[in-house]
Amino acid sequence: MTTLVTGVNGQLGQTFKEHLGLKNVVYADRGICDLSDKSSILDCLESVKPNRIINCAAYTAVDNAEDEPELASAVNGYAVGQICDWAVKKDTEVIHFSTDYVFDGTKSEAYLEEDKPNPQSEYGKSKLLGEELFLSSGVKGVCIRTSWVHSNYGKNFYLTMRKLMADREELSVVDDQFGVPTTCDFIARNTLMLIDENELQYRGPKIIHCIPSGSANWFEFALKILENLKKHNAKTTCKDIKPVSSKNYPQKANRPKNSVMANSVLGRLLALELENWLDEHQRLYT
Ligand SMILES: NC(=O)c1ccc[n+]([C@@H]2O[C@H](COP(=O)([O-])OP(=O)(O)OC[C@H]3O[C@@H](n4cnc5c(N)ncnc54)[C@H](OP(=O)(O)O)[C@@H]3O)[C@@H](O)[C@H]2O)c1
Repeated sequence: MTTLVTGVNGQLGQTFKEHLGLKNVVYADRGICDLSDKSSILDCLESVKPNRIINCAAYTAVDNAEDEPELASAVNGYAVGQICDWAVKKDTEVIHFSTDYVFDGTKSEAYLEEDKPNPQSEYGKSKLLGEELFLSSGVKGVCIRTSWVHSNYGKNFYLTMRKLMADREELSVVDDQFGVPTTCDFIARNTLMLIDENELQYRGPKIIHCIPSGSANWFEFALKILENLKKHNAKTTCKDIKPVSSKNYPQKANRPKNSVMANSVLGRLLALELENWLDEHQRLYT
């Protein structure tokens, strides 16, 4: 059984590498499998002939996607369709990742898997296209929605805050967007439990939300990062974090006000009580 992991240099790709090791796994970076290039995708699939594809590659620059919607759709949408169509023909399982940004954020409770997506950004639209093509292909496997992904790899809010907190005295962080901070380790660990590391036997729902319990706004997330840095005696000059409205912090792409997703389907399938995001997050410091 051969597994292909795409996007290996991204934070989730790196984390899957930690979990899966090198046995029977081929890790592809953009040079080996460029999702914006149909022939690169086909060449990679035909040479690796995977039984399982874990698609960690994605166009994730949310604001840049507003200026490059075609590229975002090619990578996050049409490439997923191409991978799934190939996989259907070869009886290969596809594990794909999507985002809370497919929702518009107007719901007051947590979003369920069956809630209707209504993305408000080009990134969200491109990820929804990927979900739709995954579902319509009829491929084996699962599309896993997650949110506010962070780790000690790559670029993410947690690492950006750490850097700022090492040389600024004061920070302002938005307090009117709510979501569930999720570590890559949480995603990789639970994904592998869900699909079973050895056998191609995933038969569950085609879309699953994979996030820990609880929720936060970005300001609360930043406060916890600072608290943890102090607890672990890490260097910080930061004395104060001020909550600000997203109106005072304009960004190119619209972001949902509430993108908290419910995790009860994941908990039920794994027969686990899923931990709070803070417990998962704290493991990054050790
Ligand atoms: N980050 C988040 O907060 C977040 C939230 C919800 C869902 N997700 C989803 O979670 C998944 C993993 O995200 P992540 O945080 O690990 O992203 P990431 O760290 O930005 O990694 C994405 C990877 O995709 C690669 N990539 C970009 N364009 C490509 C292309 N044309 N062909 C091949 N590879 C390409 C990048 O390659 P280079 O290294 O060469 O640039 C990078 O290695 C994605 O599906 C994402 O949409 C992420």
